[in-house]
Amino acid sequence: MTRKVTKAIFPVAGLGTRFLPATKSIPKEIMTLVDRPLIQYAIDEARAAGIEEFIFVTSRGKGALEDYFDHAHELESSLKKSGKNELLDILRSTNMESGAIAYVRQHKALGLGHAVWCARRLVGDEPFAVILTDDVIMGEPPCLQQMIEAYQETGGSMVATMEVPADKTQAYGVLDVSEDMGAIVRARGMVEKPKENPPSNLAVIGRYILAPSVLNNLNKLKQGSGGEIQLTDAIADEIAEGRDVFGLRFRGQRFDCGSKAGFLQATVAFGLARDDLKDEFAGYLSDLLAMRKAAE
Ligand code: UTP
Repeated sequence: MTRKVTKAIFPVAGLGTRFLPATKSIPKEIMTLVDRPLIQYAIDEARAAGIEEFIFVTSRGKGALEDYFDHAHELESSLKKSGKNELLDILRSTNMESGAIAYVRQHKALGLGHAVWCARRLVGDEPFAVILTDDVIMGEPPCLQQMIEAYQETGGSMVATMEVPADKTQAYGVLDVSEDMGAIVRARGMVEKPKENPPSNLAVIGRYILAPSVLNNLNKLKQGSGGEIQLTDAIADEIAEGRDVFGLRFRGQRFDCGSKAGFLQATVAFGLARDDLKDEFAGYLSDLLAMRKAAE
């Protein structure tokens, strides 16, 4: 029997330098795809997967992110008074239960592994999920839910994985696969951004279900390290110590919203997926493409 996963860590303490100057004053996680901030997509995915406790690893300058989770009482009562019930429903759907959110500070951006380690006391001795809000995934059921379902069969730790072209593997953590069971693969290793000879074309993206022992591995890495602490190394240590690590080829499309090109692609895809926008937006895009073609 696997233990239920009820806690998720959202590491949001990065500097977001690829979105300067915007990130000078707004956290990257508050930037919107259509009309929802990136963080809302991540929260919705976590809720769908049964997560009940939401742990944010934040840093200086992320005040707007914390404010986003406050209930907007004045706005709610004004919408109620004016009978704008649809908007009221949208607003209320973002309300979080009191006490469901916790914040912990990462004092220095020492890497993703370090950010996760900062949440260790809030996680305790339980399996937990990690969601990177930069990776927005369009999928049904949502990616983390697919992972929880797979994890209930496998136990151990699980990462979300997708196939990438060989010349792109150097941008990702890459799995070394010992057993390919179709949607699920068993890993015998994991390499962060391999410069050459990637062990496979299965890249790890920003969804994880991790055994609590990963936190002990991070503890050891912390003691031995002067620089960045990689989550990949702590997961690879699980395998080295004989514990199971699996990858799930999730069904869905992932957008790298930490990069400008990825963010634009996601904006187009989510815009086209919206009933209230798709006709007008698709019309605009096809006119634009036709105009570009004519000008060539
Ligand atoms: P990125 O590598 O995208 O870094 O982090 P970043 O700082 O957010 O963005 P750039 O590269 O400067 O544009 C991946 C995820 O890990 C978190 C980030 O917030 C992001 O969600 N992270 C990274 C931390 O929480 N702490 C860190 O020390 C590093």
